Amino acid sequence: MRYFPVFFNLDAKKVLVVGAGQVALRKVCLLERTAAAITVVAPQVAPELMQRATAGRLQVAMREFAPSDLDGARLVIVATPRRAVNRWVAKLCEARGIAVNVVDDAGASGFIVPAIIDRDPVLVAVSTAGASPVLARRLRERLEAFIPRGFGELASWLRELRAAAIDKLRGSDQRRRFFETLIDGPAARRFLAGDRRGALRIAQTLLATTASSAPAHGEVTLVGAGPGDPELLTLKALRVLQDADVILHDRLVSAEILDLARRDAERVCVGKSAGAGSTAQQEINELLVHHAKLGRRVVRLKGGDPFVFGRGGEELQALAGAGIDFSVVPGVTAAAGCAAYAGIPLTHRDHAHGVTFVTGHVVAGDGENREPDWRSLSLPQHTVVFYMGLGRLEHIVARLIAHGAPAARPAAVIAQGTTAQQRVVRATLATLQGACAGMQLQSPALLVVGDVVALHDALAWFNPAADERAARSA
Ligand SMILES: C[S@@+](CC[C@H](N)C(=O)[O-])C[C@H]1O[C@@H](n2cnc3c(N)ncnc32)[C@H](O)[C@@H]1O
Repeated sequence: MRYFPVFFNLDAKKVLVVGAGQVALRKVCLLERTAAAITVVAPQVAPELMQRATAGRLQVAMREFAPSDLDGARLVIVATPRRAVNRWVAKLCEARGIAVNVVDDAGASGFIVPAIIDRDPVLVAVSTAGASPVLARRLRERLEAFIPRGFGELASWLRELRAAAIDKLRGSDQRRRFFETLIDGPAARRFLAGDRRGALRIAQTLLATTASSAPAHGEVTLVGAGPGDPELLTLKALRVLQDADVILHDRLVSAEILDLARRDAERVCVGKSAGAGSTAQQEINELLVHHAKLGRRVVRLKGGDPFVFGRGGEELQALAGAGIDFSVVPGVTAAAGCAAYAGIPLTHRDHAHGVTFVTGHVVAGDGENREPDWRSLSLPQHTVVFYMGLGRLEHIVARLIAHGAPAARPAAVIAQGTTAQQRVVRATLATLQGACAGMQLQSPALLVVGDVVALHDALAWFNPAADERAARSA
């Protein structure tokens, strides 16, 4: 982020506008929505600005700018038609640590003025950091249509209710839940529809019942975050994530997905690498129970789907044993997501009657009995997806061929699937290892074996690396 968004309190603070043409007028109109003390300095002043000065809404100095005009200024907006003057004023401001904006000159500006959606006291600011004012405007238009006009009044009403909530409700968790129910439920709907009395009645009842209710029961939701692309998160996963008090997440869950959670939710990385033993899992189970017993809404966020090689079942058993309420939000499992993004239809009916998801990872010391049924995995007209198989590629290929799979059977490794770093290595069982050598594939990675893999050659559609190269050379 090049620009950090903040909202200035300008009550009674001096704001200087250098320049007094139409551009300056537009900025003054914006500033007039605050209680700033506005001063305009320019040798020539647009009539509309003079009228405002006469009405006592701002001060006008009809002369050239002088450095002493900056004395006491909190913000400065520079909008003269003379670039050299604008830059000089900006430099003086910088030297004195005064925030300055030069209209249409981001390079000389210390801050930029965003497009705003004003539902005072609700204010939404939109910025593209100067990259595209048109895009910012379009976004603002959409938000204007999306945010009800009455939101400002609703916010003011909620502020009035805060004192009563602080007085009657224990702790910040209870207060947050009270306001969430208020905003998501019939009280806010009635308020926005104009029925203020009805809204107040509901709010008072809710306040009384919340105050007298027993402390909230904690609960745990196992949520599948999908294989990487944040847009593969389900709507339900997004909602649960935004409601969570605490999120226990895997190492594989990306920062972009975690950013979708409530800002003040506690985030705990409980990531395990392949091979971590049962102690780590036991600790995770205990953490889940611990947070839920504190009355929190806990989200256990896992890559892909929680029930596919995700130990979701073990965690639910622990929760059930401890009497904790739980639910599950499924996610797009890596096999489905990666195959889709690699253009490999897992059960194309001309090439496969079925698909098997199997783990390529075998816990050391577990012996031969933990090996999969290689004979069935080697059958024709069948697709096999190996999770966690990259480290055992040589072994997997050898076992499949030893159990009757032809060496020419198509096979692919998909690394970091569905993300901008996705790499697909398409080969055959015989050539796959050689094709992967030297590619520096990063985990996580999947191995897909079966005739359907050959369809990748014609159906691949997602190639972020090539797209990036094309964009660079364009
Ligand atoms: C512990 S398993 C978890 C699987 C997860 N629960 C699911 O449903 O996708 C982790 C393995 O999933 C596979 N995987 C997960 N995300 C992937 C991705 N974006 N690209 C390729 N493979 C992925 C890799 O084989 C990785 O070693």
